Amino acid sequence: MQKNLSESDVAERVESLLARMSLAEKIGQLNQVGGADFAPGPKAEDQIRAGGAGSVLWLNDTKRFNELQKIAVEESPSGIPLLFALDVIHGYRTIFPAPLAMAASWDPTVPEQAQTVAAREARAAGIHWTFAPMIDIARDARWGRIVEGAGEDPFLGAAMAAAQVRGFQGDDLADPERVLACAKHFAGYGASDGGRDYDPVYLSETQLRNIYLPPFAAAVKAGAATFMSAYMDLNDVPASGNRFLLRRILREEWGFDGFVVSDAFAVGNMVIQGHARDGRDAALRGIKAGVNMDMSSYTYANHVAELVAEGALTIAEIEELVRPILALKVKLGLFERPYVDETLLAQVVARPDHRDAARWAAQRSMVLLKNEGGLLPLKKDIKKIAVIGPLADSMSATEGSWMVFGHQPAAVTVLAGIRAKLPGAEVTYAPGPEIRRDIPSWFESFMAGETRKPPQTPEEAAAAFQLAVESARAADQVIMVLGETDLMSGEAASRASLDLPGRQEELLQAVAALGKPVVLVLLNGRPLSINWAAEHIPAILEAWQPGSEGGHAVADILFGDVNPGGKLPVTFPRKGSHAPLYYARNLTHSPEGSPMYNPRYWDGLPTPLYPFGFGLSYTTFAFSNLQLSAAQVKVGETLTVSVDVTNTGAVAGDEVAQLYIHQRWGSDTRPMRELKGFARITLQPGATQTVTFPLGPDELRYWSTNAGGWIQEPATFDIWVGGDSQATLHTEFEVVA
Ligand code: BGC
Repeated sequence: MQKNLSESDVAERVESLLARMSLAEKIGQLNQVGGADFAPGPKAEDQIRAGGAGSVLWLNDTKRFNELQKIAVEESPSGIPLLFALDVIHGYRTIFPAPLAMAASWDPTVPEQAQTVAAREARAAGIHWTFAPMIDIARDARWGRIVEGAGEDPFLGAAMAAAQVRGFQGDDLADPERVLACAKHFAGYGASDGGRDYDPVYLSETQLRNIYLPPFAAAVKAGAATFMSAYMDLNDVPASGNRFLLRRILREEWGFDGFVVSDAFAVGNMVIQGHARDGRDAALRGIKAGVNMDMSSYTYANHVAELVAEGALTIAEIEELVRPILALKVKLGLFERPYVDETLLAQVVARPDHRDAARWAAQRSMVLLKNEGGLLPLKKDIKKIAVIGPLADSMSATEGSWMVFGHQPAAVTVLAGIRAKLPGAEVTYAPGPEIRRDIPSWFESFMAGETRKPPQTPEEAAAAFQLAVESARAADQVIMVLGETDLMSGEAASRASLDLPGRQEELLQAVAALGKPVVLVLLNGRPLSINWAAEHIPAILEAWQPGSEGGHAVADILFGDVNPGGKLPVTFPRKGSHAPLYYARNLTHSPEGSPMYNPRYWDGLPTPLYPFGFGLSYTTFAFSNLQLSAAQVKVGETLTVSVDVTNTGAVAGDEVAQLYIHQRWGSDTRPMRELKGFARITLQPGATQTVTFPLGPDELRYWSTNAGGWIQEPATFDIWVGGDSQATLHTEFEVVA
């Protein structure tokens, strides 16, 4: 492994490359070529041979990588190697829980390890660069892509963003087991109007800076090599032509020195979006905004040379965008080692520690939402178990959304996990009626999956319903596995309702009416409004999209080999129409609990079904002895908050201590609660641990509308510490000038 090159060595090599490249080759570096058949444009080989491609995406074929690389290195004019890029979002072959699930671990080592494994496998396949982490804050559960990020909170989101960057990149880009990370989608994509994917986003600078940008700032700090500009309009300017985002914030303020790739076709799409006059204008806007690489729209390839010839762009402007692309190729060691060993992948994916890491990640990601009467954990001597539901044996729902191109799901399903856990028990399985999107996903056309079967007829559905009820009737214990299929969340997978799709709730009610003990396991990529279940089903486990080892992890938890300790990274609303719903709202003149309180809607409570940060355990915890290092600090100083956490139950377990603050007055109104610290700890029964959190200028400052910038102010602050965002243990302190 080559050691980190010095910045000046890298710069020197980049300048010597630039000196021998033609303008066409420089423009070529800015062009990312679609390697799959569906991608438009000229043949990949021809573009590469002419020096017209800097990178290839949508290809997942080790042998083909080497073939194309050989053309780039041996046949193109300056022999500059290609970067192979792909969406490796939560695993390459060993699939980890979806990012929203990993955020529910409240343990940054979970995504860090996951992405370390993902990087090792992807790199062994020949991939250099992943389009991850996706770090869009999402407060609207209707938005399908909420599954790809860390949920609603900027503090948790920033921790998960940095951890993923570390996991993908390690601390040396020349490490042959790492890949380049790409922080996406810059910025604000999660706030689309109505939660409708791709729709415009309107965010004040205050919201942008306090809520949506912190994970991206954290990614830059962690060394993210690349960024992806988003699709949608941000305040009426497409993110992929947005100088404010890409130049002022990303480069000038944050000092980002990597490169920016547009989202797919986003440079060319500025014409469709009604922003650019034509392709030429779109290319000009993309370049001027600082989008280094055009993902597959060929707008740069088709127009930049002409723009330079006309004098609308200078060669210096093109070189400025080429430099960081070449620099990363140098840092990766691609010039020394352009090819991948075609025998490596088979060895790497067979590593048992990868499967172990996936199981551990899934165990840590699951959230126990309800456990009335201590129904869970179940006893292992149950004789007859009925496992019921359309997702109980679905590999694709278990592995989840955003599968790597061409990947065939091979997950341990919940049914398989339960059967493996209880080899002596009689475990029956009945899927019940199928579930399906009302409007199919575009992705179905090229993703292998169970969703491609012809739809069930009403008669078949009725028979499946009956069979499921009968199998429940014959069992001692029922485990219902309900939720959403993989393509019901993710890109182009927003929905207006958050209810269980199809006839799942009806089936749940019919089964519950039998009077058997019922456990509900949820597989899904977004909050669901499971109001009926929350009231009537005694035990509910949120398993999300748990990945390749998901079924084992579910069984580990249901049968008590693992005590769940995950917490919700996102609020569960009672209705889709309550979205966006999040805990860090501002107070109003009529706050809840005040004599002047007026309900927000007259047709039902808009309070959460489950609040942010919530999750149960098979044991119980108490928080006490909340202490501050000082009751008063000056602006700029740091105080320490400490609290004792005690396991008050009978088994060992994990608790996530969460610290929330509220600034009572100031230049702007601040949210009634904001997460500013968390720590997941393991405690033996009866044991107590003191957890400490620093609170300093980083935690106490904010971007103020009135002040027009970042400020930290003298004010009184509330502090709450506890196991969720409704924690009651309280104290306060003063910041003085
Ligand atoms: C998505 C990106 C993704 C890209 C490349 C786009 O449709 O928005 O998240 O990285 O495709 O596959």
